[in-house]
Amino acid sequence: MKVIEAINLNKKFINGKEETHVLKDINLSIHQGEFVSIMGPSGSGKSTLLYLLGGLDAPTSGSVMLEDTDLSKVKQKQMSKLRRSKIGFVFQFYNLVPNLSVEDNILLPIILDGENPKKYEAALTDILETIGLTDKRKLTPRELSGGQQQRVAIARALVFDPDIIFLDEPIGNLDSKTGKEIMQLFQTINLKYNKTLVQVTHSAKSAKYGTSIVRLVDGQIVEHIDVCEEESITA
Ligand SMILES: Nc1ncnc2c1ncn2[C@@H]1O[C@H](COP(=O)(O)OP(=O)(O)OP(=O)(O)O)[C@@H](O)[C@H]1O
Ligand SMILES: [Mg+2]
Repeated sequence: MKVIEAINLNKKFINGKEETHVLKDINLSIHQGEFVSIMGPSGSGKSTLLYLLGGLDAPTSGSVMLEDTDLSKVKQKQMSKLRRSKIGFVFQFYNLVPNLSVEDNILLPIILDGENPKKYEAALTDILETIGLTDKRKLTPRELSGGQQQRVAIARALVFDPDIIFLDEPIGNLDSKTGKEIMQLFQTINLKYNKTLVQVTHSAKSAKYGTSIVRLVDGQIVEHIDVCEEESITA
């Protein structure tokens, strides 16, 4: 089943008289359970593509289909709801709230949505177990290592049980050992929870935790290939 599809996607940024054509006629289908890595040189449009696919920004032309929904036809309010319930995001810098505990950071989307966090107690316990931070649930981010903070950000992206999770250089800020552990965690989330993942990465190695690789050069997809079995890394 297709979870996300980009159709003739174009993105231009206009600054004064200057126009930058960042994404050029992108066509891309991502299926349920895939773990796609977007790679390419700095400035090639990877983050821009990720944000368009996740509905954080709108294309200049073309469309993004999230399951059966054309994101360009969705009203603002419905879009926020859709983003919260179907889509998770994890960034390079963890974007945690410093004075909230691990649990409250994870539950933040729920609280912001006006829902009762008590309903999510069982889910929270399960997620804390998955990310391996059960014993640190009452601590604040400044008492955690970088890798642990990223785990909290991952947990926050999981709390609404989204169908698809977007990752923008999720291990870009971590040492290689911690990065490897986080990649293994993503793989678990992909395989155990059958979540669709789309990551932007500069690392050929972390791309091999996934199922396919999209190469972007100068705003165009030049390749979309499967990670072959001999090359794939399985935890
Ligand atoms: N909001 C914006 N306004 C104007 N130009 C932008 C904006 N966002 C991105 N760009 C331009 O679009 C191009 C692609 O940016 P993007 O962030 O998608 O690259 P990237 O492939 O993610 O690079 P990196 O690997 O360095 O993160 C760049 O030339 C950038 O200057
Ligand atoms: Mg980027």
